[in-house]
Amino acid sequence: MAQQKTILKALAGETQDVPPIWMMRQAGRYLPEYRATRAQAGDFLSLCYNPELAAEVTLQPIRRYGFDASILFADILLIPQALGADLWFVTGEGPRLSTITSMEGVDALRPVDEIDATLSPIYETVKILASELPKETTLIGFAGAPWTVATYMIAGRGTPDQGPAHLLKNENPAAFDALMAKITAATIEYLAAQIEAGAEVVKLFDSWAGSLKGTDFQRYALQPAKEIITALKARYPHTPVIAFPREAGAGYIGFSNATGADCLAIDNSISAEWAAENLQIDGCVQGNLASKHMVTGGEKLVSETKRICAALKNGPHIFNLGHGITPDADPDNVQRMIDAVREG
Ligand code: CP3
Repeated sequence: MAQQKTILKALAGETQDVPPIWMMRQAGRYLPEYRATRAQAGDFLSLCYNPELAAEVTLQPIRRYGFDASILFADILLIPQALGADLWFVTGEGPRLSTITSMEGVDALRPVDEIDATLSPIYETVKILASELPKETTLIGFAGAPWTVATYMIAGRGTPDQGPAHLLKNENPAAFDALMAKITAATIEYLAAQIEAGAEVVKLFDSWAGSLKGTDFQRYALQPAKEIITALKARYPHTPVIAFPREAGAGYIGFSNATGADCLAIDNSISAEWAAENLQIDGCVQGNLASKHMVTGGEKLVSETKRICAALKNGPHIFNLGHGITPDADPDNVQRMIDAVREG
């Protein structure tokens, strides 16, 4: 049967007059209804593990804006927690985890086949969404890519350059490789379970891919993505995968073909014109609008939105930001962006 959903058409390689649109972090603190539900849940992690309320915040931006896709509300750091790491969030600062600095630390993690004990509420959220989303809206599941997840498990937090992870990689490659292998195996199981629960597409977030240079990029960003996508495609050949090796620069070239991804998500450090020439030749491209326009708005927001649409109009394209929307964004600017995309 011909595919009806606009997101799935784009992921299948179809060029459309109006690109489908969704937004990273579309359920988030810029929305008053999100802040209210988060307060009801108590805190961010309690919200992630409460299927009814996590489904509710996932649906809020769909009701408000009618995005073409909905992304499961959860976090990439739930995998470390399921593997046994301590995880908490410091308000205004971000995540904190217990740190892994040796092979003993890796060995102390739980076996991969035990992660579902922690993560089953997330699969429950996916099930609720699969039944409650409007029929034209695509449900996207996700996980962090192994390198990005490893950087948080090693440093215990975000750092300006994720230096602690680079240090372990260079000084104790055996422990680092064991950690990467563990996260990779857990990610395959986690994404497979999301697909089983009803996710129609999955996305791999490698937010720190840009800090890997040369052969490190091939080994720790490209190879793990390929391994995860190959394993998923063997089990679910019809489930599209979006890869996001953020700030990869020239590393974006050929990434989809090399990993088997159906779509390459791009940040805003490269131009849409360059992406059309170098990346869209291989398939669908998603992203690129700088998140700051959701704060600043005005004519520039509209002109940048239209420029990106024009640059990518001759191939498969999903409109999105280059990174997540920030808490200081104005909800009205989101509507302006959507109108600019849809009025053509
Ligand atoms: O895109 C979506 O709306 C889906 C849900 C989602 C969240 N985080 C919700 C969230 C997704 C896909 C993520 C991915 C994620 N989480 C990444 C990769 C993408 C990226 O942004 O680079 C990373 C590195 C994380 C880890 C993480 N979680 C950080 C660094 C933070 C703090 C950031 C901040 O703005 O405070 C989080 C918290 C987080 N994850 C929030 C949300 C909505 C804010 C939490 C809150 O409500 O206080």
